[in-house]
Amino acid sequence: MKLLTFPSSELASQHAFQMIQNALESGTKVFGLATGGTPEQLYALIRESSLDFSQAISINLDEYYGLSPEHPKSYHYYMKQHLFTAKPFKTSYLPDGQNPNVEEETRRYEAIIEQFPIELQILGIGENGHIGFNEPGTPFDSKTSLVSLTESTIQANQRYFSSKEEVPKQAYSMGIGTIMKAKSIILLAFGENKAEAIKGLMSGEITTDNPSSILNQHPDVTIITDEAAASLL
Ligand code: PGA
Repeated sequence: MKLLTFPSSELASQHAFQMIQNALESGTKVFGLATGGTPEQLYALIRESSLDFSQAISINLDEYYGLSPEHPKSYHYYMKQHLFTAKPFKTSYLPDGQNPNVEEETRRYEAIIEQFPIELQILGIGENGHIGFNEPGTPFDSKTSLVSLTESTIQANQRYFSSKEEVPKQAYSMGIGTIMKAKSIILLAFGENKAEAIKGLMSGEITTDNPSSILNQHPDVTIITDEAAASLL
């Protein structure tokens, strides 16, 4: 794992942008994408750039269970707003949060990833070390599944909703095993509230208590942080 720490999240996002530009220009076709506050600056840089993703495929990490693509808090909506309207991909895949058939939906999503192996995966990290919505305790070989959000994640995400009650309690998420199959991974972490998770990740101890720690076993991971997220190292 390579750790790069920048004085600000703006500079860190610029570096991530450069890496994506290099990947695109050297032929990367399948991008794994994340949502949340962390990649917003990165997506703004892509929107304002001349990069062309019209021949590329995107596959998102997760989607809230029960939310329609038109729901303003759904990750479908987020992706349209932050990226896809300005930078359409050839095809963009997200889990269907409205499919109540869990078996069918998780099989469908795994099949998509098998068909289009992810070459570059963007990740955020939860305050509890989650990647995707894979909360502490998730087995490292997990596949795409319907997961329950922990209290810590519900609390962290309530800032995006008008009340805590509105935060969906479940989500479809790529599994940890699925994420680990990506050829290369960029994990972004900004702010002091991520410092504990980054400390655990960088300690080298691999434990399901900090799901991100499995990345220590991946051959090509770049961790990009601001100073606050690296403040406990
Ligand atoms: P955030 O979420 O970017 O909104 O902090 C990251 C995550 O939970 O993975």
